[in-house]
Amino acid sequence: MGSAVATLTAPRLDNAGRETAAPPLLEVRDLRVWFPARRRAFARRQWIRAVDGVSLQVMRGETLALVGESGCGKTSLGRALVMLRRPTSGSVSFAGIDLSRLKGRALRDTRRQMQMVFQDPYASLDPRQRVDALVGEPLLIRGVDAATRRRRVAELLELVGLGAETAGHLPRAFSGGQRQRIGIARALAAEPTLIVCDEPLSALDVSVQAQIVNLLVRLQRQLGLTYVFISHDLAVVRQLATRVAVMYLGLIVEMGETAALFASPRHPYTVALLAAVPTLAIGGVAQRRSTLLTGDPPSPVNLPAGCRFHTRCWLRERLDRPAICANESPRLAWANGHASACHFAADVADHASAANADRAAGPPAGT
Ligand SMILES: Nc1ncnc2c1ncn2[C@@H]1O[C@H](COP(=O)(O)OP(=O)(O)OP(=O)(O)O)[C@@H](O)[C@H]1O
Ligand code: SF4
Ligand SMILES: [Mg+2]
Repeated sequence: MGSAVATLTAPRLDNAGRETAAPPLLEVRDLRVWFPARRRAFARRQWIRAVDGVSLQVMRGETLALVGESGCGKTSLGRALVMLRRPTSGSVSFAGIDLSRLKGRALRDTRRQMQMVFQDPYASLDPRQRVDALVGEPLLIRGVDAATRRRRVAELLELVGLGAETAGHLPRAFSGGQRQRIGIARALAAEPTLIVCDEPLSALDVSVQAQIVNLLVRLQRQLGLTYVFISHDLAVVRQLATRVAVMYLGLIVEMGETAALFASPRHPYTVALLAAVPTLAIGGVAQRRSTLLTGDPPSPVNLPAGCRFHTRCWLRERLDRPAICANESPRLAWANGHASACHFAADVADHASAANADRAAGPPAGT
């Protein structure tokens, strides 16, 4: 079946969501990341379509958030953006250069400018290495001499709020939040332009999460960084992101400037995600968790025909199950800098509040 690929005519948006002629820092075209699925003997080869035709642009200095349920392909996309995972097809251009054309030193230099901060600050740091070795490793790889490395590591530790005196400690001496700061310092050591943060808060206590958010905001201002921010936490996304891309089963189903997307989502899946967080529900309608999103997503190996969301879509139910939803894959169509891959995007707002209210008041769907 065809996929809801973001059209290449998508408008370029500046940090306020306005159209701009400025070239993007990162441009992704029709990207696919597929993994071979385990198969029984003599069975046909099947693929897990983790990312299945994503096109997007990331503008210099912005924070583009990637949101969606577990397994929708956020990490696979994030890793492909920074070349930690080779895409199955499609292209990634950084500062106008197609990364697949780079080799040797040019490739290493470009990759250095794109770093990743990982979800689990416990697993992402070698427990046997001291902080100075962990943070200084990217400098060592670049051939920076020992004295400069020591000075730079001390500066980086100060920058992330740890203090230079922590350089000689092992990771086990630090709390989760402090380890995440070490991970951020290590990413910064490479002097990146772009950082992909993959759920950098989810392994941390709530009290520490706000400190890391503040640190990321401060570093972005100070160093002019561009972020791709992967998160389940929509409240943090609303606070941090310039724009939001919503993923469902390997595709972007909605993309737009943060305030517009939260105020008037144009895809039923986004409405359902927001409704699951009462404080974010449209117009505050859902006073308790709404159940617009029921059941599990289909397998990324056996994807449904038509719209991938049609097996769970509350709007399709309200519209008496139009056949087009099960037969034709909707394209990501842009209007006023806000894109949605839904045949009935224009009807979402009219139905969202009523659907939220119905579900919040009544028993959960499917009971
Ligand atoms: N190395 C791999 N080999 C096989 N399948 C994989 C691999 N990595 C991811 N997948 C599969 O690809 C799909 C997308 O996974 P991915 O980790 O990108 O999702 P995600 O949105 O980051 O999920 P989460 O929110 O749980 O981190 C899932 O079905 C996952 O099982
Ligand atoms: S195209 Fe149909 S099934 Fe898909 S999101 Fe829109 S209304 Fe729902
Ligand atoms: Mg992930």
